[in-house]
Amino acid sequence: MKLAEQRGMATVYEPAEDSRLLATAAIDRIDGGRVLEVGVGSGYVADRIAAETPADVVGCDINPEACRRTRSAGIEAVRSDLTHAFLADSFDAVVFNPPYLPTPPEEEWDDPLEYALSGGEDGRRVIRPFLSDLGRVLRPSGRAYLLVSTLTDVDAVVELADEAGLGAEAVDEASFPFERLVVLEITHANR
Ligand SMILES: C[S@@+](CC[C@H](N)C(=O)[O-])C[C@H]1O[C@@H](n2cnc3c(N)ncnc32)[C@H](O)[C@@H]1O
Repeated sequence: MKLAEQRGMATVYEPAEDSRLLATAAIDRIDGGRVLEVGVGSGYVADRIAAETPADVVGCDINPEACRRTRSAGIEAVRSDLTHAFLADSFDAVVFNPPYLPTPPEEEWDDPLEYALSGGEDGRRVIRPFLSDLGRVLRPSGRAYLLVSTLTDVDAVVELADEAGLGAEAVDEASFPFERLVVLEITHANR
């Protein structure tokens, strides 16, 4: 992620390598149904899924400006903290490129881009509650695609999924100078 470039310039995360990796991994595996993109940002990932698969796609974001921008791209968007606004068993697929950069408290900025970038001290501050509620909104045969980084500790994320009764397996990855990005496919563990 381009942390320094993004500060002070925008209020919505601009698509980057992580967005592109997640979009491609999701498109290769989603063959229709109802899809939610959590943390939809500019709408780039949701728009690609809507354009390149037969799925019916909705986005959500905690940042109202991201919801506005996504709607202006023609994708339905709801302001929601993670999946909390949605009913149980609503989605065949959920995708999320979460804020994951480990950030010490003294470096938190409390602005919209902080919500896009900071994963708190261990990088998993947003991933943890996301995994806790994911199983509620995901249909029994549903799958989620979660972008994680080696900065966030991929094994620790797999463990959090396990604690939430979910199975997680790496299905795509790409290496960059300071991190390796991994897309985890997450399912109900009892499938
Ligand atoms: C790394 S950006 C990804 C944006 C876009 N999906 C992409 O891949 O280009 C993370 C997004 O998650 C959103 N976000 C952070 N915390 C959230 C929460 N608790 N609920 C919903 N969205 C959240 C941010 O506002 C931001 O738009």
